[in-house]
Amino acid sequence: MQYTLHQHGRAGIEFLSDLRLMSDRLEQVADARAAQHIPADDSLPDDIAGLHRTLTPLFEDIPAFRMLRLCRDWTLEAHGRVAITAFEEIREAVSPELDRLQTTPRRPRYAENPAKPDYWDGFEFHKSAGGWDGHDYMGFVHGELIHRKMVNPNFAGLIYATRKSVAAAAPVSNPARILEIGCCSGQYTQGVAEIFPHAKISACDLSARQLEQAQRYANEHNLDWELFQAAGEATGQPDDNFDLVTSYAMFHELPITAAKSVLRECLRVTRPGGYTVIGDVKAYHAFSRMERWANDYWNQEHGGDPFWREYASTNLAELALDAGFAEASWEGLGPAQYPFVLIARKGTTT
Ligand SMILES: C[S@@+](CC[C@H](N)C(=O)[O-])C[C@H]1O[C@@H](n2cnc3c(N)ncnc32)[C@H](O)[C@@H]1O
Repeated sequence: MQYTLHQHGRAGIEFLSDLRLMSDRLEQVADARAAQHIPADDSLPDDIAGLHRTLTPLFEDIPAFRMLRLCRDWTLEAHGRVAITAFEEIREAVSPELDRLQTTPRRPRYAENPAKPDYWDGFEFHKSAGGWDGHDYMGFVHGELIHRKMVNPNFAGLIYATRKSVAAAAPVSNPARILEIGCCSGQYTQGVAEIFPHAKISACDLSARQLEQAQRYANEHNLDWELFQAAGEATGQPDDNFDLVTSYAMFHELPITAAKSVLRECLRVTRPGGYTVIGDVKAYHAFSRMERWANDYWNQEHGGDPFWREYASTNLAELALDAGFAEASWEGLGPAQYPFVLIARKGTTT
């Protein structure tokens, strides 16, 4: 959809995007300064608490590191407000087309009594103002203004390529029916649709506002996705219904108890012999100790991701086997081992 931001909103978005990119350079300065004081990796503690005791004071003593933290904290705290302000400046001009696209020709199916688990309801993941449903056009604000305009330029398109690589890792050929859980505004759904253009794609999310943005994309691009509001723990879909059940970047936002319930639901709706494929952030065991500390510091401690550590320290393949899958692997893709992907096969007999 074509639209033009007002100069004030555009400048705010570009400033935050540039600040994030430029401040990343401070990390190299801080790392170089710290290098002289950091013990060899294998003599660092192996546990997160020990890593924080050893490394956090050392880094926080370095001015470049404190400046980096200030920039990252501030960028996170400001990004939702700046994007909402940019939207309000163009609301009158864009809302008729946004409303049309979210309903024509298809509209998402809303739940009558949508589940709102405590770990999700109003929670500001990544410190986004108000959470996933925190504004009447939060799907556009998050999917378009934050994700596509603020974040994506700093990754040169890589975040879409990463999503596609997860769909491509699914060991299925020509699946007829695919279910995506936690589709948000449809960024991974696009990758799934590109890899499996002949599949019938269904996708759910708890967030009505994010589903509306996914629906706009689908309607605008003539994609016949079935989008519906439901929790991954209880999708309401029939047993054994999908050749592939998949999800990207949702599991690190779940407490492990919820992750277990979602895996049980994935098993129920995957057809016998079919696959569940879950892509998400890199497991802690695949990092050096120093990298593990940095990953935890920026995401768990400062990133607005309260379940990150729990997720990244849990063996998802074991959870899938416990849920009842016949086989499961959980490994990183490519040389960077990013993202981590669970590939779990449902047995043909129960
Ligand atoms: C980081 S976003 C997912 C990103 C998306 N898959 C993509 O590729 O951009 C996490 C999404 O998971 C949804 N979510 C979190 N917990 C959920 C649950 N239990 N059931 C369904 N959706 C959930 C959130 O509402 C949010 O839209």
